[in-house]
Amino acid sequence: MTPELADSPFLRACRRLPVSRTPVWFMRQAGRSLPEYRAVRGEVPMLTACATPELIVEITMQPVRRYGVDAAIFFSDIVVPLKAIGIDLDIKPGVGPVVAEPIRDAAAIETLRPLEPGDVSYVTEAVRALTGELGPTPLIGFAGAPFTLASYLIEGGPSKNHDHTKAMMYGEPRLWHAMMERLTAITLEFLRIQIAAGASAVQLFDSWVGAVAPEDYREFVLPHTSRIFAGLADLDVPRIHFGVGTGELLALLGEAGADVVGVDWRVPLDEAARRVGPGKALQGNLDPATLFAPWEVVERRAGDILARGAKAEGHIFNLGHGVPPGADPDQLARLTDFVHRTSAR
Ligand code: CP3
Repeated sequence: MTPELADSPFLRACRRLPVSRTPVWFMRQAGRSLPEYRAVRGEVPMLTACATPELIVEITMQPVRRYGVDAAIFFSDIVVPLKAIGIDLDIKPGVGPVVAEPIRDAAAIETLRPLEPGDVSYVTEAVRALTGELGPTPLIGFAGAPFTLASYLIEGGPSKNHDHTKAMMYGEPRLWHAMMERLTAITLEFLRIQIAAGASAVQLFDSWVGAVAPEDYREFVLPHTSRIFAGLADLDVPRIHFGVGTGELLALLGEAGADVVGVDWRVPLDEAARRVGPGKALQGNLDPATLFAPWEVVERRAGDILARGAKAEGHIFNLGHGVPPGADPDQLARLTDFVHRTSAR
């Protein structure tokens, strides 16, 4: 790692060191909101794009070029490692991941074999090319967390209430933990592969874990996510942990071992800092829907988030969830500039 990269505002904020300005990037900054994304994706299926290094590199670079954000996030999807071990699934436009045969018994769980670097050589190739092209801009690798992956696999697709998932969790705890152990191994290996290839931080997306009560999180999820963060400790890269609707879980998300806790828009950052406790940086947390309001509203709310974020030990500005496909890229460009100007010290 070059000194310039190590000293980038993003990596410094992750490490809770003083920064020249608050770093900013956006979850789902690459994607359908960008005309240049729609142009290169064309008719290429999502999972084909995720396995094509030239497309991965180009799509990952697009928001960095357009906005000057402080970090790139690797273009892929949380289901890529599952596809790579042979699970029959697809990403349906406007729907999300759909699994041909939902995994609900011990025999099906057996099909969740360990991931090997050779299964995702296109990821290694693309990360290597990207770190060269990005220079001093950090690349964030990512993976889906076991709970969120389990939900897609058990339900067979996106779910509002996660009924089948919770039925296994509450009703067949041994089966549940066996499945979570296998997913933990796959996720940990997927993150280690990206770090080995040059990613300088990682984010674990447990997008739907907000559906779980704190005591159930502690029993059914925490042992697994903890193992993932512990399994990355020797690699010395910042680890970010994010989920939606996790106001009641923020302390536990930190306890699992992340360096940075991602916060959605429901909890103000100063209150999130209180809940998470010392020794963690925070990431967030503008409501993505704010992007559809007039610029004056975006500016006022972003200013409030910067003021509250200043009370945390480290703050990375982001949305509280992903960029909506219909968002206006000009709003995001102005927002990036606003965060940089307002926080310059
Ligand atoms: O943030 C980035 O710019 C990097 C790219 C990224 C994608 N998926 C690309 C994508 C990341 C980080 C993800 C992670 C992901 N995938 C999550 C966790 C993040 C979150 O939003 O909570 C989840 C839950 C998924 C599952 C998934 N994949 C969903 C819900 C969808 C959207 C379905 C739709 O069409 O509305 C996808 C597809 C997907 N992943 C797209 C992109 C750019 C859209 C596909 C397209 O362009 O056709």
